[in-house]
Amino acid sequence: GTNNENEKLIGVIDAGTRSVQFCVFRTTHNKEITKHTIDIATAVPQEGWSEQDPKEILDAVRKCMAKVVEELGEEASKNIVTLGITNQRETTILWDKTTGEPLHNAIVWNDIRTDSTVDRILAKVPDQDTNYFKNHCGLPVSPYFSAFKIKWLMHYSPHVKNACKSKTCLFGTVDTWILWNLTGGINGGKHYTDVTNASRTFLMNIELLNWDPYLLNYFKIPEEMLPEIKSSSEIYGYVSNDWPLEGVCISGILGNQQSSLLGQRCLKEGQAKNTYRSGCFLLYNTGNQRVLSTHGLVTTVAYKLGKQPPVYALEGSVAVAGTAIKWLRDNMGFLKDVSRDTESLAKEVFNTGDVYFVPAFKGLYAPYWRKDARGIICGLTAFSTKQHIIRAALEAVCFQTRDILEAMNKDCGIPLTKLRVDGKMSQNDLLMQLQADISGIPVIRAETEDITALGAAMAAGAARGVDIWNIHSEESELIPIHTFLPTSTTNERDARYKKWKMAVQRSLGWAVP
Ligand code: G3P
Repeated sequence: GTNNENEKLIGVIDAGTRSVQFCVFRTTHNKEITKHTIDIATAVPQEGWSEQDPKEILDAVRKCMAKVVEELGEEASKNIVTLGITNQRETTILWDKTTGEPLHNAIVWNDIRTDSTVDRILAKVPDQDTNYFKNHCGLPVSPYFSAFKIKWLMHYSPHVKNACKSKTCLFGTVDTWILWNLTGGINGGKHYTDVTNASRTFLMNIELLNWDPYLLNYFKIPEEMLPEIKSSSEIYGYVSNDWPLEGVCISGILGNQQSSLLGQRCLKEGQAKNTYRSGCFLLYNTGNQRVLSTHGLVTTVAYKLGKQPPVYALEGSVAVAGTAIKWLRDNMGFLKDVSRDTESLAKEVFNTGDVYFVPAFKGLYAPYWRKDARGIICGLTAFSTKQHIIRAALEAVCFQTRDILEAMNKDCGIPLTKLRVDGKMSQNDLLMQLQADISGIPVIRAETEDITALGAAMAAGAARGVDIWNIHSEESELIPIHTFLPTSTTNERDARYKKWKMAVQRSLGWAVP
């Protein structure tokens, strides 16, 4: 280990869509000292479906923890005073509380099998208004959120049906599944979630922060299968004796996008961050106030530290960012290695040659919420090359972000003057420069790699009186940064953005039932 003797350490389980990792942070420095990562397989049993094995996730958590303990050594591992959990959100797991066995594969957040469930629900609400339930949960009706996935499982899975009948069925997002197992599973595991994860289920009242009786009744989901909602920073339980780090407490839980908002130290109203990974998620801190968007954004809980009042955020979620590049690699064979080739190939051309790529593989999320949209590449000529298309895929990420920035500015009234960014894909300098040029504001990149895990470490520390990196101080700017300044003119920006909107129009309504 590289830490001083007796220096307190904090461990974080970061269970993302692509991989699980376990990171250990020092409490005096914002860089992790060690981590281990394991990839998670995603199965696509049918077009539009996306599943993961809940046991594989647990296995990966166990292996990552064991590996890190081994690397640190038994002695240094004793300095780990607490654990945090941060996770891919909305992904839905149902299991049997008497056997601990999953009743079905996890349905991953970007799975769109619940299309028809959503249609049936919309058909029953006035004007088929996607915002009909927004006052209750802050969210538009979309297959993205957990309640629709729970509904689907209750309807189609015989195992789930039986477990519901015998009242042994438990629901959890990935945080809850991990916590329940880590704290003893069938032998008294804690069935809890935190407010940020609960705010993505479609079942939590966004004002009162409890399971909303109206929504539970509407979806006919029994409250007894739902976890208890806790704050994002308090002691939830202790690691049971069949896991590494037995006896250590778990005291921080946040959905991964909220966690990176915290990690980026966007603790003040008006601060925002964008995380670029498989999807991309822009969160804007609105303080203790809930802003209900009228421009297609989602109202979500940003964090709640123990007994302090909740802090809210407006979120713009984009389903496909890095996934578009992976598609160009796997399905089109345009490149071999995403991190090595994307930037260099896109740089071989000076622009996209007027090619626009709307990667609406999963429909479009914010601000459109159109599940009938499908991918489109337009503006092709005989001169178009794969380089143009790769560059257009990068620009698509930036244009989608601009769509969200425009909506945020309208909802909040005060335009954002800078954008903090993180996530693996933000390591691409060209992407960051394009983002600055397309949005017209400086883009500020965090140079600490694991901002997402850092947020959960901060929350976990706060509950144990370890005030790491001044979580409560509003002025702390401890993360090294790199700034990208816009070089485009307003006219150029707006002309290109107009074309993007034309391309989006062409993608809408493609998947008519
Ligand atoms: O809402 C889904 C989001 O939490 C997924 O994040 O980075 O694991 O793809 P990521």
